[in-house]
Amino acid sequence: MYTQLIGSLQKNVVLPLEKVANKVFTQSYNPFYYHGALPNFFIWVLFISGLLLFAYYTPTLERAYNTLSYITHELPFGNAIRSMHRYASDGMMIFVMLHMLRVWFTDRYREYRILPWLTGVILLSITFTIGLSGYMMIWDQEAVTLTYITANFLKQFPVIGPSLSSLLLGGELVSDFTLTRLLFLHLGIPLLLMFFLWMHYLRITRPVTDPPLALNLVLLGGLFLFCGVFPVSLGDRPNLQLVSPTLDLSFLYAWPQYLITQGWSTGVVWLLVLGVPVGLLILPYIQKKALRGQFAQVLDSSCTGCSLCYHDCPYEAITMVDRNDPTSRFKRLAIVDPGRCANCGLCVGACAFKAIEIPRRDSQDVLKEIEMALNS
Ligand code: HEM
Ligand code: SF4
Ligand code: SF4
Repeated sequence: MYTQLIGSLQKNVVLPLEKVANKVFTQSYNPFYYHGALPNFFIWVLFISGLLLFAYYTPTLERAYNTLSYITHELPFGNAIRSMHRYASDGMMIFVMLHMLRVWFTDRYREYRILPWLTGVILLSITFTIGLSGYMMIWDQEAVTLTYITANFLKQFPVIGPSLSSLLLGGELVSDFTLTRLLFLHLGIPLLLMFFLWMHYLRITRPVTDPPLALNLVLLGGLFLFCGVFPVSLGDRPNLQLVSPTLDLSFLYAWPQYLITQGWSTGVVWLLVLGVPVGLLILPYIQKKALRGQFAQVLDSSCTGCSLCYHDCPYEAITMVDRNDPTSRFKRLAIVDPGRCANCGLCVGACAFKAIEIPRRDSQDVLKEIEMALNS
């Protein structure tokens, strides 16, 4: 049922969309083929614009709003940089989610791709935390209200709730410590993002991490245009005794707070906040692939040790080892790690010596499958 659903989504939704995008952008620039690389474009914009903002931001109750006001109203290009930072963070979240949907739709998220998927869920949670702390750092009346709602939401968690809330606020009440904590979340957590990105790529042999220059320029142009047409604004100076009567919350980053303001019970929102990542983490385990158990096997006597399969394998499933066999004239031998082999058949195509096969799927079958795919 589940496999059929994915198969039908691939056939009826993903492939037709991909074909249209191929016509519009050509195959070399089709954004579908850079779904993992596109969030990296936004990471660069966020990093550069964030550094410029950081040069002016002062994380104290007295000065945070003033510095934001200075950046927005007085600093040359200040608001343009702020707008870039804001919209790049929204873009990042949108493209990360599209990337996640893409790997899910195309069934490229389980078995040998389990590490990128699991680290991906962590990356998603990290991106969310960084973005949310950024919205609170604006420190206008709405941002202060968002901070109050978040602290109160944390407080409702059973047993450790009050500690979570005081961890965010740096005490029982909002103080200078709150802004230091927010700054720490906003600048410290990106280090974790880098670490998990490294883990994300660990089991992918040649990850496509950068979109082509032309696509980068189109995105940059689009971002500039968007910032020019919809520059961000700054709300009222905060009064810590009040909550904002209006709240224009970003659904991407503040959806739990949004749901709470819409009257949802805190318990249900907590279930969602924890349930979504946990559900995503267990998704790859819900169904195993029928083909599991098959993996590429090297015919030792035919292997010349040429390494072609090793270079072509996308999952780092092949290692080249010394043969240590005085009767053979070849020095090296390919070894397949069954736990990593995706059964993709690329190595079979790469080997000119018919020295690597997938049992029950010999080279002739693989060639036929490729021909059929090309003709379909
Ligand atoms: C900071 C956010 C993220 C960045 C920058 C990122 C980047 C990338 C890149 C560059 C690749 C290689 C793509 C390729 O070579 O074609 C990739 C692969 C992958 N990502 Fe992400 N990713 C992020 C978040 C996520 C999330 C949230 C998920 C899912 C929960 C995810 C799941 C995967 C999977 C399963 C693959 C392997 C796909 C394949 O082998 O075809 N990623 N990612
Ligand atoms: S079939 Fe070959 S190329 Fe594909 S993952 Fe297995 S060893 Fe690597
Ligand atoms: S491509 Fe074939 S011959 Fe070359 S190392 Fe791999 S299995 Fe051996």
